[in-house]
Amino acid sequence: MNRPFAALSAGLLIGLAACSPTGSNVAALVAPEVAHGKALYDKHCATCHGPGGKGDGAAAEGMARRPADLTRIAARNGGSFPLAQVMSTIDGYNRKKPHGSSMPAWGAELAASPQVMVDTGDGVPVPTPSSLLAVAAYLRSIQGS
Ligand code: HEC
Repeated sequence: MNRPFAALSAGLLIGLAACSPTGSNVAALVAPEVAHGKALYDKHCATCHGPGGKGDGAAAEGMARRPADLTRIAARNGGSFPLAQVMSTIDGYNRKKPHGSSMPAWGAELAASPQVMVDTGDGVPVPTPSSLLAVAAYLRSIQGS
């Protein structure tokens, strides 16, 4: 991820949030966010979850708890992608001892990213780190792949 692009996608997010009275909603998840999320995923998640999210990363070998197949989150949830739940799961990993062996080096990235207002469907915009939203948007984009 080069810095100008990161700044551009963050700026776009804030612009979207500012234009909409309810903040950026799920429909406003746009392509640059997905690209940003993929870069973050490749850096922080792919070692366990695999390059394509199927749970087959190099570090998955020999782990007592297998990393989840992240391309099937929606399938496991009756066909819809539970954005709020996924973001809270990822954020939880950031704060407590994660699922698996080592803490993903992910906290600094979240803390450094600007907050955006996200309405995940219940009409209540919640301040959310843009990097967390970007990773969730990327995961949403690989459902069923
Ligand atoms: C150290 C290995 C490891 C790393 C790094 C890791 N994960 Fe995981 N992840 C796991 C394991 C193991 C599970 C399944 C067991 C569990 O849920 O505790 C899991 C489960 C999940 C789930 C729950 C899936 C579901 O449907 O229940 C999500 C979402 C997830 N990981 C996202 C991420 C993201 C995003 C990152 C990067 C920011 C990441 N993980 C980094 C090992 C890892």
